[in-house]
Amino acid sequence: MSSPRVKVLVPHLIERKNSSEVLTMVTAYDSTFASIVDEAGVDLILVGDSVATVMQGQKTTLCVSMEHMEYHVQMVASVKPKALIVGDMPFGSYQASVKDAVRNAIRLVKAGAEIVKLEGGVHVQEAIEAIVRADIPVMGHIGLTPQSVHALGGFKVQGRGDDAARVIEDAKALAAAGVFAIILEAVPASLAAQITAQLSIPTIGIGAGPDCDGQVLVLHDILGLTQNTLKFTRKYADIRSTSVDACKQFVAEVRNGSWPDDDHSFH
Ligand code: KIV
Repeated sequence: MSSPRVKVLVPHLIERKNSSEVLTMVTAYDSTFASIVDEAGVDLILVGDSVATVMQGQKTTLCVSMEHMEYHVQMVASVKPKALIVGDMPFGSYQASVKDAVRNAIRLVKAGAEIVKLEGGVHVQEAIEAIVRADIPVMGHIGLTPQSVHALGGFKVQGRGDDAARVIEDAKALAAAGVFAIILEAVPASLAAQITAQLSIPTIGIGAGPDCDGQVLVLHDILGLTQNTLKFTRKYADIRSTSVDACKQFVAEVRNGSWPDDDHSFH
């Protein structure tokens, strides 16, 4: 019989740097999906601001508010997962001032996040240092940072050619600021490998090749619920088709009078 899973803690993740056991992180925005990914054994559940595109029907993540993130973090925290809960700091919650950054990080922790994540490199160094001083573990996020979509001119691969130096500088700035891990999004695999080798903290990749210390995907892409064709996602199931078929069957049974049947009626 396998022993019950123990709660994952931040020091465990740091110890996994350079270990053969690659870190896994999957998004969830509610209690049902949080319990599913936790049962699957992921190390981290990311309550991502991708909630905007996945759940809110938006084209970018820019509209997400602190109130939205608190609400989704609370739902995920309600299942008391063994995985660590990462709360994403939404656009506007840390850019205006360092004080805002600390106050909003504290709000996410009070909602149930055990780690906060924010996007950016050198320019968010001060905000990260201040959050770390408040004893809140911080995960960085560099490369393609979706909150900078307008400045980047679209959702594009970052760090190709001469631009690699900028991403490396961002990685070093975050490590110096005290993040315990960094997400590398949509960067060449060779650059991600180089950054991973240079840092003493774990890297977690999405569209960053196989040499990171961990990998993250959006749950709704894994399940085939989104109709995403991004190069760096993988559909491990086709729950969308299964769901459409189930609903079609319900509609057909109601229309042909076979639902509800006698077994499901009260007498
Ligand atoms: O919000 C999110 O889901 C993310 C991941 C794609 C890394 O930031």
